[in-house]
Order: sequence, then structure tokens, then C-alpha cells
Amino acid sequence: MGLWRDKLLVLGLTLLSLSPSWATDVSFDKGQLLINGEPRIMFSGSIHYPRSTAEMWPDLIQKAKEGGLDAIETYVFWNAHEPYRREYNFEGNLDLVRFLKAVQEAGLYAILRIGPYACAEWNYGGFPVWLHNLPGVKFRTDNQVFKDEMQNFTTLIVDMIKKEKLLAPQGGPIILTQIENEYGNIMGPYGEEGQRYIQWCAKMAESQNIGIPWVMCQQENAPQPMINTCNGFYCDFGFKPNNPKSPKMWTENWTGWFIGWGLPFHHRAAEDVALAVGRFFQSGGVLQNYYMYHGGTNFGRSSGGPYITTSYDYDAPLDEYGLLNQPKWGHLKRLHEVIKSAEKILVQQSVTHKDIESNVKLSTFTDNSTGNSICFLSNVNNNKDVTVDLQNNGKFFLPAWSLSILADCNKEVYNTAKVSTQISLKTKKPSNVDSELNWVWKPEPLKDTLKGKGSSTTNQLLEQKATATDASDYLWYMTRVKVDASFPKHAILRVNTTGSVLHAFVNKKQIGYEWQSGGGFVFEKPVILKKGVNLISLLSITVGLKNYGSFFDLAPNGIVGGPVQLIGSGNVTKDLSLNEWSYKIGLNGEKKQFYDNNLSHKNKWTSEGIPINRSMTWYKTTFKAPLGRNPVVIDMQGMGKGHAWVNGHSLGRFWPTMIAQAPQGYSCSDTCDYRGNYNDHKCFSNCGNPSQRWYHVPRSFLNDEDNTLVLFEEMGGNLAKVNFQTVTVEKACGNAYEGSTLELSCQGGQTISTIEFANFGDPQGKCGSFKKGSCDATNTLSVLEKACVGKESCSINVLEETFGSSNCNINTPKRLAVQAVC
Ligand code: GAL
Repeated sequence: MGLWRDKLLVLGLTLLSLSPSWATDVSFDKGQLLINGEPRIMFSGSIHYPRSTAEMWPDLIQKAKEGGLDAIETYVFWNAHEPYRREYNFEGNLDLVRFLKAVQEAGLYAILRIGPYACAEWNYGGFPVWLHNLPGVKFRTDNQVFKDEMQNFTTLIVDMIKKEKLLAPQGGPIILTQIENEYGNIMGPYGEEGQRYIQWCAKMAESQNIGIPWVMCQQENAPQPMINTCNGFYCDFGFKPNNPKSPKMWTENWTGWFIGWGLPFHHRAAEDVALAVGRFFQSGGVLQNYYMYHGGTNFGRSSGGPYITTSYDYDAPLDEYGLLNQPKWGHLKRLHEVIKSAEKILVQQSVTHKDIESNVKLSTFTDNSTGNSICFLSNVNNNKDVTVDLQNNGKFFLPAWSLSILADCNKEVYNTAKVSTQISLKTKKPSNVDSELNWVWKPEPLKDTLKGKGSSTTNQLLEQKATATDASDYLWYMTRVKVDASFPKHAILRVNTTGSVLHAFVNKKQIGYEWQSGGGFVFEKPVILKKGVNLISLLSITVGLKNYGSFFDLAPNGIVGGPVQLIGSGNVTKDLSLNEWSYKIGLNGEKKQFYDNNLSHKNKWTSEGIPINRSMTWYKTTFKAPLGRNPVVIDMQGMGKGHAWVNGHSLGRFWPTMIAQAPQGYSCSDTCDYRGNYNDHKCFSNCGNPSQRWYHVPRSFLNDEDNTLVLFEEMGGNLAKVNFQTVTVEKACGNAYEGSTLELSCQGGQTISTIEFANFGDPQGKCGSFKKGSCDATNTLSVLEKACVGKESCSINVLEETFGSSNCNINTPKRLAVQAVC
């Protein structure tokens, strides 16, 4: 008997260890996505691997799994992997295979959007700039040079994932792949060539022979068997794939929005995201992907643009640092559970839709074999609450802009507007180790460029991408101009540029800088000229290359064509555009890698006279990592614009002097009415503050001993307020209706220290300012204290039995509100 048991155990273990290599068959038919022949309902979320660190991936993926996702989606970022033609990089957080294996190890599927055009607010949409400089190339159209490069990279990625057995039929996690990205949105201007291109994309993808379906998002005319999918804030009754075989899939449900320098934060409420998801499945959807589930950080110079911040938090269910963004994460988790519990019924696709009244719809899904049913009841009125009488099945109250899921069509198990998940109030605290920062500094060596010495010369004003191949944000344009007595001494230097920022130096002195977010600007500053030769050095700066639109790749950068002019009184003009211009790519400090502490640098750093508000300055300090596991950020308040590195790892560009302002005609507000269609101009906050004040320092960049922070300050800043902080969940607030379960948790290993507020009855106010209502159960506080204090998390059934009688009016729906300190 014992022997048999052992044998069975061995067999069981063998099967377990073999299971990852079992092939998964992925196909589709009759609007269903079939995994091993079974129709499925799937939740997926975007986590872009280069926007975090390899060390963060397992935790992010685990949190996605706990949040109820089946799959992780990512783009592949061509320009990161092939920075120089045929020179590849798959190291560190570019280790795509390691990322996909981490997804697999967590037991999740993967969706790989190879593109290789990504968009994604990623520099140049993911295209390498060398591609722009290939003779005869035309992007995203029927052009041989482009198609050869696109096919070369696509094939490289496909071969890599095949070799690593990462495709589902090989036992790997990848169930879907994408070619191109939203070409349908912008293809009009490409005309016939664009039509031919999309046919070619489909053929090329098919020829890769990967044994799983390909999708093309926002591509109504997607050639078969490509599945066209939708992207947007909503995707419901208005969207149908272009072939009855294709499953209805939503590749991008935007959970928030990205931030631009000078623009405010975006908030998309959990209630609205949940409604959008509910409506998608109500309308027959089978797979939806949150874009983003974790947004993360645009490290290095990876942010697109122009003018996209380093933070790519996106108001996603996991915040930039990987902490849960509550209540969004939890409210969606609950929704996933409810929808998943009805998966068998939903995939039958036996459904009837009934319009109860305008904007109120009842959809009944039935499993004909078992008779089981589930109903989705939606009220998409912007502000009209309704009570729907389903007769024998009951009466249901639906707040405006909400959807209820009714188990067996007679029991409300979820309403998108009723959030029972805790809210987490996060705070940033100064580092818990000796936090005084001692700085050293040195100037950016400008000797050569202020003298006009570059590495190449020509008699024209060149385009920046073509000249610098995006090796740096910085490109110097330098010229000499001879001035005789006939030209006025006091003049204006006028530069017409398509760059994002411009600094100008005349005769070795900085005369000023300017920037503008749009497609270029005119720089004008007074100058004093000397008789004879004058030196003009212009530093043109990019802040992320454009990533979206028809022909976006051709948007010019830099002082291309100018004109650059000197204008004296009476409008006497000297046009310098056809002068001899000398060029130099990048800063000397970048070239010498001042940010790398392991290299010894000839020009010594000094602690003497730390400058304030000095442009073109390098600063360095050492610091100890804050203790604990909480995410670390640098508060850059007081600094101007530049780039930051910790232990040689780039944290990205900083620009805290860019103050957030709502676009004209809009404003910021403390409250956000989630009702009504969301768009990227709704629910703004953070006006009047820096668009980005804090910059993430992933824990894996830090060591236990001394760490080095290097800043390059381009415009001028004051270090006085720069300091390290940690992000902690300070308070956890719960607000749950009777009959539900309230879960409270602190993150990062912290425990609940006190219960500041507890009321089971009709509590008023919101997290941070709760007030007791007219009734309460006597034991509420003590029950909570017992269940939660000293614990990382706790769970309470919200029932009268738990707390004792509340003495509430019989008609009052009872709720439990709690505020706990972490
Ligand atoms: C979509 C695009 C994504 C991302 C998103 C906005 O159009 O496909 O890559 O750019 O917009 O965040």
C-alpha cells in the first residue's frame, strides 16, 4: 500500500515537473478564443518590462495574478533592443526572455505585441533612429528598406521566443502576438501604399509560423486571419471584429493616462474602469487587457513625446513603484472574480439583450446545458439613478453610470459604483537613515563648444535626428560671425527651431534659454556684439521624440533650416543660416560618463562653493539606502531640468520646474465625478505643482553601503531641498456594505498600528475625514481593533452579528467605514 502511494507520489511529481512543457493549443472560432479547445474569458494587463527592473518583475506579476489576471501583455521595444543596426541588447531590464519566463513561472499567459512599432509614449514610438537615417527608407508603408528591417527584427524576436520555447504550442506562456499597432487610425494619408503595407504585414506575420493567432489593433480592414481588436476608454456595443470567426478582444482599456511635462495628473476612477469592463463583457467580449496594469518609469531617455514625463504611472492598478493603487486594484479584482465565476455561462454566448428604458439594458446569459444564468444590468445614464423591477427576480437599484452583475439573474453580486475595497492613502517620508546630503560639483566642460569647436562642419542648419542619431538629447550648433562698424552693437539673436529647448551662448557667455512643448518656437534674446569675429553656440535639446501620428517619424527636430538671424535696430538683419556651422553631439560630461563613479575623471569634483542656480552643472553626493522595503524616491524640488543617475543607473530626465497647468478651458479639482464618459481631459489634479517632483529609485539600483547620486543640471537649480524619501501606505480606509467582506491591508510588510475610526451604520465623509452618522453598533471599534491591530492585513465580515445591533433606521443600508493607521 505504502509502496503504491510512494509510486503514485513519484508519478505525480514527475507529471508536475513535466507540466510546464505541455503544449497549449490556442485558436479561435465563432467569436470565441479557444485554449485547448475550450472557450475562455480572459483578463490581461500591460506591464512593459523596461519600465521597471528585472528584480521588480516577479512581484508585479504576482500582484497582477492576485488581482485576477490571466495574462500579462507587453510590447517589444525595438530601439531599446537594437540601439545600433545589428547590435543587440537584451540585458538587465531588456531581458525579454527572463520577463516572459517570470510570467510563465507565475502561471500566467503572455501576450506579445511585437509591433515592432509600439507608440506607447516611448521614444520615437520604439523605432531606432538609425532606421530614419537609412537611405531610401519610408516608415510604415510599402517600402522595401523599411519592410526588410521590420521583418528582420520581427524574425529575430520570433526566433528568440521559439528557441526558448515560449510559445503556447511549445508549452510556453505566449498565447497571442501583435503585428503593427493602431495603423488603422492613421493609415489614410498613406493611401494605396498603406493598404499594400498592411497586407504585407499580415503575410509577413503569418509566414513566421508561430502556431498562435496574430492580432492587429484598431485595424478594421485587418486581412484574415489577423484579428482586429479595439483600444480606448470603452469598447462595448459599438465594436465588432471584422470577421464572425474573430473573438471580440480589447487590447487597450486605458486605466488612466500618461502625463506630459507642464500638464496635470489624470485620474480615472475605479468605478468607471469597472463599468467599462462590465459593459465589454455584457456586449460579448472575451478578452480584455488593461493598458496599463503597471505603468512604471521611463528610465534613461526612453520617454516619447515630445514632453512626456519620466513617470509613466498612468493611474494604473499598480502604481509607478509597484504598490497597489487602491481601490482600483481591489475593485477590479472583485470584478474579475465575479465574471470568472460565470465563465462557463458567458462563453456559451447564448444571450438576450433587452432595453429596459433609454440607457438601461439587461443582458441575460444562459448556459443551455445546465440552465444556469447570469445577468448584466447596466445604467449608462450620466446622472439618473434607476430602480429596475425584474418582477420575480427582484428589484435592483442602479446608481447612474453603473452596472450590476446578478448571479442567477436575481442576486446582485457586484455593482461597479459600489466600491467595497479599501482606499490606501500613501505618503512620502524622509529617508530613515542619516539624510544630510553632502555635495560636490563640477561644471560641464564647455571650452570646446563655446569656442565653436565641433566634430563636423557644413554650410547649413541640419536636422537633429539625422545629425545626432539620438545619441544624446543635446546637439551643439556653432558658428562665427564677423561684424563690422556698420552693424549695430546691440542686436537680437533670433533662432527659429523645431527643438524642445534651446540654450544660446554668444562670445562664451550664456544669453538665455527657452522651451516650448509644441512643434517648435522662436528664440529671441538681446545680444551685445563686438567688432570682429563673434562666436555663437546654440545647444538644441530634444525631450523625447514624437511617437504617434501619420508620418510622425518625419517631424523635424532641432534648428533645421533655421533661420538663425541677428537683427539690429531698424531691422538690419544678418542671416546666419548658410554660415559655416560646426556640430558636436552630446555633452562632454556624458561622453566622459561623469555619472559613473567607477571611472576616474580628470576634472576633479569639488565641495567648494556649491553653486545655486548655475546652468550646465554636474552635482554628486553619496547616501545610504533608506532601510526597509518601501519604494525609494528622490524629491527633486528646487532643481531645474536635467538627468539623474544612481550608481550609474539612469533614473531618467527630471524637470520639476515644469509646473502642471490644466489645458486651456479645463481645470484641476479635488473631486472627480466618475459618471459620464471619461476622456483624457477629465478629472485633472496637481495643478500648480511640478508635473513630476519625485523620481523612482528602484531598490535594486541601491546597495547597503554608500550609493552615489549624480545630477546633471541644465538650467540651474538649488540642491537645498533634494532628498531621499520612501513611499509608504499611511492609512488604509475601508468602506463596505453589509453582507460584504472588508479587507484592510498595509503594504511593504507594515502592520496596522491603530484604528482611528470605525462606524457600522451610516458613516459620513471620506477617507481622511470620516464622521460618524446617526447610528453605530457599540462593538465596532473593539471588534476591529481585535481583528486588525498588529497585523499586516485583516478581513471582516460586515454583518450585524459581527458588531452587534447598530440601531439604524430599518431603511438605512448599513455600511462599515474604517480608517486604520499603518
Ligand atoms: C494608444 C497606443 C498605445 C499608447 C496609448 C496611450 O493609441 O496604442 O501605445 O500610446 O495610445 O497611452
